[in-house]
Amino acid sequence: MARIIGALTSSHIPSIGNAISNGKQEDAYWKPFFDGYKPVLEWLDREQPDVAIVLYNDHGLNFFLNNLPTFAVGAAAEYITKDEGWGLPVFPPYKGYPEMSWHVIESLIEQEFDIAMCQEMAMDHAFINPMRLFWPNENPPKIKTIPVAINTVQFPLPRPARCYALGKAIGNAVASWPTDEKVVVIGTGGMSHQLDGERAGFINKKFDEMCMQALLNDPEKLTQYSALELVREAGAQGAEIIMWLAARGALQGRVSKIHSSYHIPISNTAAGVLALANN
Ligand code: DHB
Ligand code: FE
Repeated sequence: MARIIGALTSSHIPSIGNAISNGKQEDAYWKPFFDGYKPVLEWLDREQPDVAIVLYNDHGLNFFLNNLPTFAVGAAAEYITKDEGWGLPVFPPYKGYPEMSWHVIESLIEQEFDIAMCQEMAMDHAFINPMRLFWPNENPPKIKTIPVAINTVQFPLPRPARCYALGKAIGNAVASWPTDEKVVVIGTGGMSHQLDGERAGFINKKFDEMCMQALLNDPEKLTQYSALELVREAGAQGAEIIMWLAARGALQGRVSKIHSSYHIPISNTAAGVLALANN
């Protein structure tokens, strides 16, 4: 049976991709940020997961306002990458895992998550940057991927409680996959940030710290917020924390912290990484 060994959650700020491409990891501005990933990379090196289920939010590259599913699961053999305007390099496609994707899709539908199913999907910075952060020496990495897109672009957004339940349902799906494989769940986005409007530049460190703590030992606390309350507390784009909550939902064992790091600012955003083991 497949086993979820942990959840890794990370910011996906576009400028990270250019910093990696330009080798800026040791620059004064970037060093505290990239150093925050080192213990997570050591854990990944030890664990060698086979599959990454990546909960991310498309930013208008693959889906647009005319056609926008709330939840969408990839079932492709590979996922192309594109630059949606940040000047990011385009990479060879990421490896898919259609057999496990269809199993997850069937299991989600049985659990009454009527998701969209996608046999073609293009990945934007929200998928690519965390993958490059976690697999810095391979591009694309050997790991098989299953992208799961959650709408954070057009209101109404899904309720945080629903995202957490989606994560639980994904956990059930993986637990019923017959062969022995190690799965890591990745949630991308956050932490607090607002890129536009009167509150552009808004960051809420206290709220971010509360989220990090709750994700470790009291995730239900975050399910009490509405999507709009998350916008109020974390900024319009800080609502991306729902992907972290969904990833946490997939952990069904005893959860312990591998590592966390928090750094302000990268771009206009509070950058965070949290790695949780599922024992
Ligand atoms: C930034 C952050 C995001 O989450 C995003 O999707 C785009 C830009 C930023 O901080 O620049
Ligand atoms: Fe984003």
